[in-house]
Amino acid sequence: MKIAIVGYGRMGKKISEIIRDRKDGDTIVTIDKFSPDADYKALDAESLNGVDVAIDFSFPDAVMTNIETYIQQGINVVMGTTGWYDRMEDVKKMVGSRIGFIWSGNFSVGVHLFSRIVSQAAAIFNKFPDVYDEMMYEIHHKGKKDSPSGTAMMIGDLINAQLDKKDKIVTERLDRAIEPNELHVASVRGGYVPGTHVVMFDSLADTIELKHTARSRDGFAMGAVLAANWINGKKGFYNIDDFMNEVL
Ligand SMILES: NC(=O)c1ccc[n+]([C@@H]2O[C@H](COP(=O)([O-])OP(=O)(O)OC[C@H]3O[C@@H](n4cnc5c(N)ncnc54)[C@H](O)[C@@H]3O)[C@@H](O)[C@H]2O)c1
Repeated sequence: MKIAIVGYGRMGKKISEIIRDRKDGDTIVTIDKFSPDADYKALDAESLNGVDVAIDFSFPDAVMTNIETYIQQGINVVMGTTGWYDRMEDVKKMVGSRIGFIWSGNFSVGVHLFSRIVSQAAAIFNKFPDVYDEMMYEIHHKGKKDSPSGTAMMIGDLINAQLDKKDKIVTERLDRAIEPNELHVASVRGGYVPGTHVVMFDSLADTIELKHTARSRDGFAMGAVLAANWINGKKGFYNIDDFMNEVL
């Protein structure tokens, strides 16, 4: 398979390392509008010549133009770039069955396995609504510009979907007692933590904790490479959940 890495920044570089280390015969072309290290500066027919799948980790403002080019050139896509989700319906229509397109705001396989474990755990604790209460926190490095993390919100939604008693996520500092229908998702920022998510099921007698600790960006990059293999040769608009559902 020939893979174009579009956006040769932190993620793009990590993805090329992983593809090279896998040594399974894939070839790479790197495309970056600004980076002096990339093979090509423009995303066009020339740079995409012979490419099977493009893995896009570029800038949010580049996404729509890039997608138009992928469709014109008939190239399948792994879309890791975030910040375009308000255009989701437009993109879905544009893609149709012209190319294969898989997207996620978090390509970490571990996070998606963790989400499924948490969801199943929440379904179990839902049988004991008066005994256990649920809560969450996440920790990220001092450079992260938003809180809570998108992943924490995704996991919070999955928990609430399983719990009959909870239907609301609260993320702010509370100067009052929490309501039974609220799930508190707290955020801590500082240091160099790549991303930690903790879910607690707490009773008077004990606490059961589920925790996902990312060690680096490798998890995202590995997931994007697996998704590229999965989308190769397919047509249609997919999310990483479709990939996971098929594997699991
Ligand atoms: N989905 C996930 O799992 C996941 C994980 C990490 C980061 N991200 C997202 O991926 C994106 C990139 O993250 P990063 O940390 O690698 O950022 P980065 O700034 O290190 O790299 C982005 C690169 O894209 C290049 N670029 C910008 N516009 C371009 C264009 N039009 N064509 C080609 N290249 C272009 C930039 O020059 C830069 O080198 C962000 O949107 C980030 O939120 C997603």
